[in-house]
Amino acid sequence: MTPRYAAPDRTKLTLPELAELKRLGRKIVMVTAYDAPGGRLADEAGVDVVLVGDSAAMTVLGHESTVPATMDEMVVLTRAVTRGATRPLVVADMPFGSFQVSDEQALANAVRFVKEAHADAVKLEGAGPMLPRVRAIVGAGIPVVGHIGLTPQSATSLGGFKAQGRTAAKAVQLYADALALEAAGCFALVLEAVPAPVAERISRALAIPTIGIGAGAGCDGQVLVWHDLLGLYDGHAPRFVKRYADVAGEIRRGLETYAAEVRSGAFPDERHTYAMPPEELEAFEAVLSDEAVAAREERER
Ligand code: KIV
Repeated sequence: MTPRYAAPDRTKLTLPELAELKRLGRKIVMVTAYDAPGGRLADEAGVDVVLVGDSAAMTVLGHESTVPATMDEMVVLTRAVTRGATRPLVVADMPFGSFQVSDEQALANAVRFVKEAHADAVKLEGAGPMLPRVRAIVGAGIPVVGHIGLTPQSATSLGGFKAQGRTAAKAVQLYADALALEAAGCFALVLEAVPAPVAERISRALAIPTIGIGAGAGCDGQVLVWHDLLGLYDGHAPRFVKRYADVAGEIRRGLETYAAEVRSGAFPDERHTYAMPPEELEAFEAVLSDEAVAAREERER
């Protein structure tokens, strides 16, 4: 007999299981998160992969771009997420400047994410000169997610936050980069702001799953930024964002009601306060009045 209730699987999703999702044609769900409650909620919602994106620089740290995110900040955020998320793979995003300098630097920082933050994998932006970085990290036993197309850390050299691969020559370059990242050992590849037919063609060519953000439905999975999809971020939302909730609105309404109730005296009421036995209260008042009398006498002497 089929059990009516199947307990949720609390074991960590494995890389072979992720690869199997692609083989079976089942879409992979990835979302960013930056704290323990976020990791836990993503886990409870059945998300497959949680990315601690360097988008944290903008979404939670208030910067204008992802570039200022530091390793120390990303380690703290990643550790918080891994405390909350049990089942999903947790991927730590390597911030700008943490891997570009050398293979040794890239490996040392990837190791920090695994040892200090308990990340399951790391993600890094770029191909070409970054391929040896991927090989060095994968060679040390740390799984790597690639990221090509619009790579926000190098938005200035890409000419701004624009879709990539929109000419045949650029699409061919993206295709070659994708194959090279797979050959270098990536277990998944993020395609950001890439025309849907190009992303679809790349997805068909690769054995590893592609995860799209602004790359169409032909990818093997999708990723969105937590604050964008939940309606928590006030800045400019790119065209590819779909908003599934109005969490900022809910928070604003909650805070406004709280402020109004504090000001009117409606909060707290008896349900939110602690009582004490009447005889203890009486004794407490007696001590205070004894002390008040003694203090007055002392002053008058
Ligand atoms: O930093 C991030 O959130 C990302 C995703 C947009 C893929 O890299």
